[in-house]
Order: sequence, then structure tokens, then C-alpha cells
Amino acid sequence: MAPEPQIPRINEQRLWDNIMETAKFGALETVEGGMNRLSLNMDDKQVRDWFVARATELGCAVRVDAMGNIFATWSGPGNDRSDLPPIGMGSHLDTQPLGGRFDGILGVLSALEVIQTVKESGLRLNRPIAAIDWTNEEGARFPAMCSGSSVWANARDLSDLHNLASLTEPLETMKSELEKISYLGETECSYKANPLAGHFELHIEQATHLEETKKHIGIVSGVQGMRWYEVNIIGREGHAGSTPMNVRKDAMVAAAKMILHVEQIARKNEGFGTVGFLKAGSDAPNTIVGEVRLMIDLRHPSEQVLDEIESGFKAFLCSLESETKGLRTTIKRSWENAAVKFDQDAVACVAYAAESVCGDSQTVMTSCAAHDSAETAKVVPTAMIFIPSRDGISHNPKEYSTPAQCAEGAQVLLESVLKYDAL
Ligand code: GLV
Ligand code: MN
Ligand code: MN
Ligand code: MN
Repeated sequence: MAPEPQIPRINEQRLWDNIMETAKFGALETVEGGMNRLSLNMDDKQVRDWFVARATELGCAVRVDAMGNIFATWSGPGNDRSDLPPIGMGSHLDTQPLGGRFDGILGVLSALEVIQTVKESGLRLNRPIAAIDWTNEEGARFPAMCSGSSVWANARDLSDLHNLASLTEPLETMKSELEKISYLGETECSYKANPLAGHFELHIEQATHLEETKKHIGIVSGVQGMRWYEVNIIGREGHAGSTPMNVRKDAMVAAAKMILHVEQIARKNEGFGTVGFLKAGSDAPNTIVGEVRLMIDLRHPSEQVLDEIESGFKAFLCSLESETKGLRTTIKRSWENAAVKFDQDAVACVAYAAESVCGDSQTVMTSCAAHDSAETAKVVPTAMIFIPSRDGISHNPKEYSTPAQCAEGAQVLLESVLKYDAL
């Protein structure tokens, strides 16, 4: 009987060095561990250039599509398999405005590490494998999470996202900024033009379930549903010292009530409700605010509950209008993704790999955070791997996972891909 091929090992130090090296792109000088690498800014360009250079050195063929998604495909020695769709390993290089060093980039750098490890081992796979950077996963600068992966999966329209403006700079669109950093690629952004055989994503958990259950690896079987709303509240500006309290149409007061409503209704339904963005129409301490624009992020595993909460938002805004004569409000669902269940075979590959790497120190779980995998799952078999995040902290400079946890996650990524390739 032929001996079982040896499973190659991820190089923990090399992966960690790459995480630390790339953390200099967008590092906040005054906040330890803090990152501001907003999608398509100059730091994002630098980390993209670094990724492309490393992938090219490894012998990957690099393609950039019309959403700036980067596919670095490694076919191995000889060219006989290079026409087959690769098994994708993707995540994102962008961060929140005050983010950390692991959210997203861990998955992209681990994908490169998998390619390098396979290459050095001389192992021959049946299909090519690809490391992928999906554009604007965070949705922090351009308010549509998972922009690149959603267009690729044909879930959203390319021109809508090309025309999407920055939340704070209305003249900066995704297209203009892709052009500015030279990542408006020529390849069509589509799973048909740039097909994948599957998609695996390693990510930090961003919650405390793994820590609490003392497990090393999360086998992610799906992602909860989520929606974003843009709310405008229009009242009337006025003098802070002379406008009687009972005649005011104070948009800021109405916004404050709405924010409390979001918090209460989310708690009551055991979901998640957040107002993370708010712009007031006045910047002065002594003018009553006449206009407020805010965004609500709402998440829950049940579409029915999301619908009910949405109706609750509308009813509450109507009640604010009746409370204050002349106050007007609008609400628009500006982004959404229904709850996603990952492909059973792909999840089984992760489960097999997790068991091989860490025995029974693993658990099946659902992701509360959004991920590009929730988009790729619409068109190709997809699954995810989580490693613990210290204290569950994420979207925060204190985000941390140890070198050993990162390497263990990357090892599970590698073995998941090997298993999937052998199916
Ligand atoms: C993306 O980071 C999210 O908000 O889940
Ligand atoms: Mn992420
Ligand atoms: Mn994030
Ligand atoms: Mn995310």
C-alpha cells in the first residue's frame, strides 16, 4: 500500500512576521495596535501592493477584477491544471477606522502561507489554489459591507457599487478611488468570469464563545441575517438660548430617542442593534440641530424577527413625527444580507481538518459578524474557520490572537483545502 502523503506544516513564525509586517500599513501612531486602513485609501493600496508582490514572488498568477478584488492563483509545477477553477481562500485587507491587526488580513495572509507551505512541500494538488483579497468587506468608508464579494457573486450590481460614495466625502466614489489607487481591474467582476471551485475563509471569532468553551477552533456553519438602514431626521435650526423648549423641532433629541429605541428593541428580541454612524447638521454648541443622518446596523438569525423590528423602527419614527409637529423623518434599508447556511460538504472538510489539527477542541457555530463567505456561499461551496479572539474584542485596537492560535487556524485552512481538493 502506498504510504499516506505527509501533511505539510504551516510556518508559525513566518505567518506571524507577515501579520506584524503588514500591520505597518495604516497603523495609527498614537494608538498601540490601532489600524486605520479604510478600503481603497493609500494604506490599502500599499498593503495590496505588498500582497501582489509576495504572491508574484511565490509564482502566483495575479488578476484584479472591476471591483478591485485580487485573485492570486497558484497552479503548482507544470501547467496542466491551470485552467481549472481554483479553490479560493479569501478574506479582506481593509479595516475599520479604529480597527485592529487581525480582522480580515489574517485570512488573506494565511492563504498566502498555505500556498507557500504547499509549494515548499512539493505536494501535488488536483486543482489550483488562490489567495483572495475581497474589496471593502468592512463597509466603513463606502457603506455596503462585502462590496467586492457581493458583486462577484452576482448579488449586487457593479454600477451601483462603482457609484457608491464615501460616507463622509460625497465626491469620492468606489470607482474614482479604485482608479486613484490603480486597482480598477480589467477582468469582469463575476463568478462566471473568475470562477472558484469553493471558498474557505479563516477569521478571528470576534466574540467569546471559543474562549468560554475553551475550544481552539470554530467550524462555522453559517452567518446570521443583517440589515443596514439610513435614517434622516429633519427638524429646524434655532437659537439655543432664545427658542422656547416647547416649540423646538430638535433633530438631535429625536435621534437620541431613536438610538434608545434601537437598543431596546434589539435587546428585547435577543438580536444586535447599533447606531455606529451619526452626522448632525450643525457643528456649533449653541444652535439647535436641524438635521441628523444616522445609520442603523441590525442583526438577527430570523428574517421574521428582522421584519418585525423593521416595522417597529417605522412606527417609532412616525411616533416621533406626531410628538413634534413639523419634524420629518425618512428611513431606507440601504444594505442587507439574509441569514446564510454554508455548504455541508465544505463544512465537513473544515470539521475533518479541525479534528486532525486539534482533536475535540473544536465546536460548530454560527457567525454573528458579516463575512465575504456569506456572499461566496451564494454561488460556490463555502465554509469558514474561526480562531479565538482575546476577550472577544474586535473593531478595536486591542484585537488579539496569539501566534499559535493564528498558525493553528492556518493549519486547519490548509487541511480543509487539501480535503476538499481530494473530494
Ligand atoms: C464586518 O466587519 C461586520 O460588521 O460584521
Ligand atoms: Mn472581517
Ligand atoms: Mn470587520
Ligand atoms: Mn467583518
